[in-house]
Amino acid sequence: MCGIVGYIGERDAKEILLRGLEKLEYRGYDSAGIAVATGDRVELFKEKGRIADLRAIVDPGAEGKSGIGHTRWATHGVPDVRNAHPHRDESGRFTLVHNGVIENYGKLMNVHLAGVELKSDTDTEIIVQLIGKFAGEGLNTEEAFAKTLGLLHGSYAIAMLDEQEPETIFVAKNKSPLLIGLGDGFNVVSSDAMAMLQVTDRFVELNDGEIVIVKKEGIRIRTLAGEPVERAPFKAELDASDIEKGTYPHYMLKEIDEQPAVLRKIIQAYQDESGKLHADAGALEAINEADRIYIIAAGTSYHAGLVGKEFFEKLAAVPTEVHISSEFGYNMPLLSKKPLFIFISQSGETADSRQVLVKVKALGHPSLTVTNVAGSTLSREADHTVLLHAGPEIAVASTKAYTAQIAVLAILAALAAEGKGMEPRFDLTRELGVAANAIQSVIDRKDELETLSFEFLEMSRNAFFIGRGLDYHVSLEGALKLKEISYIQAEGFAGGELKHGTIALIEEGTPVFALATQAAVSANIRGNVREVTARGAKACIISMEGTGEEGDQMNIPAVHPMLTPLVSVIPLQLLSYFAALHRGCDVDQPRNLAKSVTVE
Ligand code: F6R
Repeated sequence: MCGIVGYIGERDAKEILLRGLEKLEYRGYDSAGIAVATGDRVELFKEKGRIADLRAIVDPGAEGKSGIGHTRWATHGVPDVRNAHPHRDESGRFTLVHNGVIENYGKLMNVHLAGVELKSDTDTEIIVQLIGKFAGEGLNTEEAFAKTLGLLHGSYAIAMLDEQEPETIFVAKNKSPLLIGLGDGFNVVSSDAMAMLQVTDRFVELNDGEIVIVKKEGIRIRTLAGEPVERAPFKAELDASDIEKGTYPHYMLKEIDEQPAVLRKIIQAYQDESGKLHADAGALEAINEADRIYIIAAGTSYHAGLVGKEFFEKLAAVPTEVHISSEFGYNMPLLSKKPLFIFISQSGETADSRQVLVKVKALGHPSLTVTNVAGSTLSREADHTVLLHAGPEIAVASTKAYTAQIAVLAILAALAAEGKGMEPRFDLTRELGVAANAIQSVIDRKDELETLSFEFLEMSRNAFFIGRGLDYHVSLEGALKLKEISYIQAEGFAGGELKHGTIALIEEGTPVFALATQAAVSANIRGNVREVTARGAKACIISMEGTGEEGDQMNIPAVHPMLTPLVSVIPLQLLSYFAALHRGCDVDQPRNLAKSVTVE
């Protein structure tokens, strides 16, 4: 959520900043801006909309060797040029970009900035105005920067230029992600390694409460209190091709197509030479020591968690609860005696989940993060990490991370069962391979799904997804996918629950997508379909080999009954994709959303 870049070196800063922002655009895309130090001044370019809109207004003649940039997802103030970053202090000397939320900005304004006329509605401007004020009172830039940071409550990743010191970028971080990239004769700042892979693959992690003085020859890290910090760089294990669209029209389609390969990569990553599954010993021990697992997640990751609960309970006999992170932290249920908290997060940066991690750590409980991003905040701060190996997910709508989360949770549950000496219920490695093939065969039926999408969703204002058991969990994910990218109002329901109220919304032609992959409740879900079609609904039944009936719109290949979500979600992802495409929506960057939600 919001992306930051910075560059200091010998090359034309603006081009590196713009290219970096293009890679970060998935984090926020309502406005963007760059500031470039050109001799004795810092030139500012800001525009509403996408990076392409910003690029169009940047003066090609604005040559500078240092600069900062930002792509925004609005939290304070409407998305417009006034509120776009970078922001400046009253004197015009300091220029700053910020990702995060300053909770006490109103108080800081009243106490320290009486009489200052703000130029924007953002909390960010308060930061730069404070720095300007303290510098005006005689502090040097680093002192003014540190003093201001000491007053802030909330989350921030910050990069700042001082017109009087253009050979330095001042950087700080608290709760929001930020990395320093190291180069030969240059250094960069970035919210995400991906954005700067174009120039370096060596990065230094920053911890909360640290300040970095970035110059082209080197960097100096210190704590807010002034203690020096030494930290070795790491090499980003990312391939530039992982983050390119290639010949695909959208990242989402590419990522849907990648799912069979991701599943095979997961099997490989969690298999030893003899073909036996294995995973981090500490993580497995933590699962086996727990008397109850609490899965904490948001959005699509929460939906994967619902499937994960079934694995932990049915395969490993560990009672498991699944909670929405933004609720759990502020309304904690009674906990068991030996809880384990499992955080599921594609990005590893979700602020709603992080606030729970901070709270449960303070209570002394063990934690495990299941994430796609090694070195992410949730990964660094939890006791254990298990990786998804899905490769970068760039489309805002999550697809391959969901299937990867389900596969990895199944592996953890199966290994936990083995650790307890329980007999395996089935050969998971083999069944994941079968699922990978089944996913591929559904992906190969894109034309059919495009036709179904047209038939069922072209004219509709709303849609329902129903299922029972595992199919219910997938129906929640199907509805989320559809609404977030096509803006069709969609709800996922337990098949039996619809008649307890929501069936009132069924009208002539209302599309109802019914998942019928669970043999045990197949007759029940078909009964629910009859209830809605009797009231005019247009039902699209997606069944599985063995549960199918004449007239079903789609029958997917059979997989192990516990792994059906891996396959039944694929038609729903593709139906949503085509619905968004037909409506002319921006598939990869839907309105109002951002990929990595780093504010609560
Ligand atoms: C939906 C989607 C979101 C995320 C949610 C959690 O397609 O992408 O619902 O799943 O914001 O994000 P992570 O998994 O990064 O914690």
